[in-house]
Amino acid sequence: MKRVFLIVLDSLGAGQMPDAPVFGDRDCHTLKRIAGSKKFAFNSMKKMGMGNIDGQEFLPREEKPLAAVARVAELSCGKDSTIGHWEIAGVVSPAPLPTYPDGFPPEVTEEFTKLTGRGILLNKPYSGTDAIREYGREHMETGKLIVYTSADSVFQIAAHEDIVPVETLYEYCRLARNMLQGKHGVGRVIARPFVGTPEEGFTRTYNRRDFSLEAPEETVLDRLAAEGKTVYGIGKIEDLFAHRGLTKSIHTGSNTEGMAKALEALDLDFEGLCFVNLVDFDAKYGHRQDVDGYAAAFAEFDAWLPSFLAKMRDEDVLMITADHGCDPGDSHTDHTREYIPLLICGKPVKPLNLGTIEGFATIAATVADYLGSSYKCGSKSLLPVIAKPSKDEKALVKAALEAMEKSYSPYSGFKVGAALLAENGKIYSGCNIENAAYSPSVCAERTAIFKAVSEGVSSFKMLAVCGGKGGKVKGVFPPCGVCRQVIAEFCSPDMPVLLISGRNSFERTTFGSLLPGAFSPSFMGKSDAGK
Ligand code: THU
Repeated sequence: MKRVFLIVLDSLGAGQMPDAPVFGDRDCHTLKRIAGSKKFAFNSMKKMGMGNIDGQEFLPREEKPLAAVARVAELSCGKDSTIGHWEIAGVVSPAPLPTYPDGFPPEVTEEFTKLTGRGILLNKPYSGTDAIREYGREHMETGKLIVYTSADSVFQIAAHEDIVPVETLYEYCRLARNMLQGKHGVGRVIARPFVGTPEEGFTRTYNRRDFSLEAPEETVLDRLAAEGKTVYGIGKIEDLFAHRGLTKSIHTGSNTEGMAKALEALDLDFEGLCFVNLVDFDAKYGHRQDVDGYAAAFAEFDAWLPSFLAKMRDEDVLMITADHGCDPGDSHTDHTREYIPLLICGKPVKPLNLGTIEGFATIAATVADYLGSSYKCGSKSLLPVIAKPSKDEKALVKAALEAMEKSYSPYSGFKVGAALLAENGKIYSGCNIENAAYSPSVCAERTAIFKAVSEGVSSFKMLAVCGGKGGKVKGVFPPCGVCRQVIAEFCSPDMPVLLISGRNSFERTTFGSLLPGAFSPSFMGKSDAGK
């Protein structure tokens, strides 16, 4: 049962992106900042290879890391949690969520008043406690709603529970949520009920409720859930995705609780994704500019990690990443436009350094690919690069190398081997066979295909090829154009092809990328291979 555990260390940026100044950020690097604190500990994450990630030269490197690692650039225009998580889940946002430093425009306030039949007070970015202290009395006397915002993309409605019953306030929030879409699609509409009197003071109640914006397109969560897989959200994942695409979710109060729930999730039998957000890094330490607190929270995670790794099953994959930066030591309390770190480990994964990658959606593509989902987004899966060789792949590589030894190539001295894995599980291999008259020579791939077809087998699921002067394999060997055309007759574009690059190494590709737009049987009125 394949499971992916995707843990987001909220705001743990891996250094500023080149466009950070456009977002008002200079000299920000969340990880570097906290690594300078005495509270910082770096043991398990060192072993994972976090210090090998591009731009983390201030950290000790690991010779034999446990994880495949990368630094990942954000393609969306934004630096908030919602947009960051959406991109991780496959959806890129070309525009940031709207903010209202001067309050909401008349088109919004007038429409809202029409919908609720109530006027509006305040309408500015404001502290929530100041809002009810200063406007609570007028609200009680007039029944007008206290509407305010913050530096974030939020539309907040405060109302006294005796003036506007909580359920009515939620209904107003739903009306606002429906209204605030597109250009005015704020990240969250928030109900802020309170109690008390003007004389004795007001206090907010625990009936706060968030109404999040839905992702504008299908996410990998949606698709996995539709395909019958488990999608388990831990922490604020359910808020970030407006509860969409989750088959199970639990809200947690702290990093410690989130980590405990993630550990418990390892004991559940499911196939799918467990998506965890650890929000304390951002909410408790990043925004509050508490470098030591942030570093201590990182140390807690670092110390917890071995307990998680020890419980992982053979088919489990763990991904650790972030959604944006929030450098606790820079000049402002806001998020910072940074790269995110990505660490992927587990038995199915080959540790290696992937350098710098464009697009958080790489994560969605990789999750989908590993779980066998049909989800597609703008980014490519890392699986072809990071997956350890399977049994089939090993057998096919071996067969191709053995076939190469039999090459009959007295004229070119160039030995080629090919091996095809048929749908029936059998392997058909072949070598190149040259001829004194040259043109009757035949390539290894065609030898293998013709051998199989002449034995009544013509559906294949994988191909491996190798070749080199004197039988020395030095780098990948790509099939010639004629062979590609013959392969197109029998193999579908998504069939994996292994390009063997050495005795123990190969690159994965697909037949479709070797010959895009092939002249295939369908042009002759026959069905294509695999159709
Ligand atoms: N060859 C193959 O076997 N497969 C290919 O895809 C390209 C070339 C062989 C043909 C010839 O014997 C030698 O490599 C040099 O061209």
